[in-house]
Amino acid sequence: MTGTVGIIGGSDKLLEQWLRAAGLQCVHLRADELSAPIRGTTAAPEVVFVDVREQRTLLAVIPQIKRSHPSIGIAIICSTLDPALMLDAMRAGVNECVAEPVTAESVQAAISRLLQQAAPTQGRAFAIVGAKGGVGATTIAVNLAHALAQATAEVLLIDLNLSSGDTGTFFGAEPRFTVQDALENTHRLDETFFRSLVVKISSNLDLLAVSPRATVAAGPLDLKNVRALIDFAVRYYQYVVLDVPRAESALVDALDAATAIFVVVNQELPTVRNAQVVVLRLRQRYGGERISVLINRTDRQSEIAPEDIEKALKMRIGHAFPSDYRAAIAALNKGEPLAKTTRGRLASSIHAFAQTLGPPRDKGRPEKTPASESSRIFGWLTPDRSTSGQ
Ligand SMILES: Nc1ncnc2c1ncn2[C@@H]1O[C@H](COP(=O)(O)OP(=O)(O)OP(=O)(O)O)[C@@H](O)[C@H]1O
Ligand SMILES: [Mg+2]
Repeated sequence: MTGTVGIIGGSDKLLEQWLRAAGLQCVHLRADELSAPIRGTTAAPEVVFVDVREQRTLLAVIPQIKRSHPSIGIAIICSTLDPALMLDAMRAGVNECVAEPVTAESVQAAISRLLQQAAPTQGRAFAIVGAKGGVGATTIAVNLAHALAQATAEVLLIDLNLSSGDTGTFFGAEPRFTVQDALENTHRLDETFFRSLVVKISSNLDLLAVSPRATVAAGPLDLKNVRALIDFAVRYYQYVVLDVPRAESALVDALDAATAIFVVVNQELPTVRNAQVVVLRLRQRYGGERISVLINRTDRQSEIAPEDIEKALKMRIGHAFPSDYRAAIAALNKGEPLAKTTRGRLASSIHAFAQTLGPPRDKGRPEKTPASESSRIFGWLTPDRSTSGQ
């Protein structure tokens, strides 16, 4: 096992020995030490043991820890599985309970369950790259994110158009914090801090936007930070959609964590030419498997047919979105993504595309699944929970 375990309360030296023997790092913490988000470079432990055998009042710090560090798994060590204590523990947000006789096996079993639950999500990241300005990359990114979120997955949309991102406008949202704040603070990203930077668009959709006032990109772009941001995001969201500008071409080198990269084109010669350059670059860097082409605003009358684009780019078209200028503009003017409904040919095409991307990966994090949380508590009270130290 790997990870860091925080220990609060108690004076049991054996506990630390057992944890170290299992390959874990241990830190002794004061009761109030995790009551607020950790700032700076220190990382919070993945799991905390609160020993309430000598001091039952320590239970009171657990709700504060959960509030400040929602992803930390918490176990208590108690003398007996007394129902009143269990109820208080459940209300406090405790995930595991180890009762006397506390053994190396019961401690290690609890910790391994907690670490499993705290395991990062590893969501899928989809990058939408416009082959040329104005092809509709943001329209697709915004509506794809919205459609995926409607399918009950947790979705984050990151606007990487650092100098002129307009995703906020598509949602009628004005961000207080922006992607620039996240990129400047990748060293201190934790879940609480991150969630304070995003705009909550709906219960499943968060947006990390660009400030509407950021007309000039601040300083040179550090690709290391962009990679760190995407890596962090896929740990907490089931889907991450990236709106990537072609102009900041350096950004296409930071898409290592992307599950799929979609290059958006129109049936226009200059766009297809640009797409050739972008596709070649992406192919050289990431291989052909992850890259695919999307045609936006399809035009049956166009002299450039989809097959011509496939030939020019040596790649199959992943999806083609119809042209519906009126619907696109109406949505923009309302500040509501058109994928809010499935009515209309453009909206239904976006939903159809979202469905081709596969279901979200399961999350194992307990605080997001109240049902599994309560079943754990019932689990403590059933006789076969030998691993809980009965
Ligand atoms: N399928 C479509 N049918 C009709 N109009 C569309 C469609 N997709 C996008 N548009 C319109 O095209 C314009 C440009 O779209 P969008 O802002 O998404 O492009 P972009 O590639 O992100 O541009 P930029 O390079 O400025 O970031 C918008 O007015 C949008 O409403
Ligand atoms: Mg755009």
